[in-house]
Amino acid sequence: MAPGESDTAGGMATTDDVVEAVVRYAAVVSSHRQELIDLDAAIGDADHGENMNRGMTAAVQALEADPPGSPAEALKTVATTLIRKVGGAAGPLYGTAFLRASTAVQDRETLGPDDVVTGLRAALEGLVSRGKAEVGDKTMVDAWSPAVDAAAAAAGDGVAALVAAAADAAEEGMRATTPLVARKGRASYLGERSAGHQDPGATSTALLLRVLADLASERCGSDAGTA
Ligand SMILES: Nc1ncnc2c1ncn2[C@@H]1O[C@H](COP(=O)(O)OP(=O)(O)O)[C@@H](O)[C@H]1O
Ligand SMILES: [Mg+2]
Repeated sequence: MAPGESDTAGGMATTDDVVEAVVRYAAVVSSHRQELIDLDAAIGDADHGENMNRGMTAAVQALEADPPGSPAEALKTVATTLIRKVGGAAGPLYGTAFLRASTAVQDRETLGPDDVVTGLRAALEGLVSRGKAEVGDKTMVDAWSPAVDAAAAAAGDGVAALVAAAADAAEEGMRATTPLVARKGRASYLGERSAGHQDPGATSTALLLRVLADLASERCGSDAGTA
């Protein structure tokens, strides 16, 4: 393959793939809106599903209005839209994550396995620098952090395999938030009463990574990611 040539079948993600992932995530958030609201009703203020739905709908509109020329531009459009349109904790947190991912892949025309790992890791670092949560605090970091570790460990197996591993790890991390007592965000105001409920942000993160895994698996014609 010539340098710079795209190779979607071999596991490179194009700008169109990134846009398609955003469109699909917006659809998934819309169909899980009530579930995310219910999770947030239990330990927060019942707005996570609406926050994410409003933000991702606006992100899709922004990408349609001004089509991005690179994966980084697509990620930056999502970031700025989320920061602008979504109140509450999740908008700035996801916004910062997308912004750091954009910066991390700034010069790439297509994203190979190492770029995807770099982007995911940068997103996590952005989240942590913004929200100061650690693993075990019962936040979206509990899904992101194991996802990044799993992605890095599977980087040698290609994009589809690494995002499948990340999605599996994120879902495990999401489920592991249930017994935890929240130490960050609104849920922490409940203290011990936050235990016994799955974290909404960890849930929306697991949904995001599953979208990436399903899309990459389709693009690569493999069945990775359906586990
Ligand atoms: N400091 C933080 N670091 C990481 N994630 C956080 C933090 N605070 C809250 N969150 C995440 O944000 C989610 C809540 O988002 P949302 O309901 O949209 O905002 P708000 O809490 O302001 O109502 C939580 O479930 C948690 O995953
Ligand atoms: Mg909320």
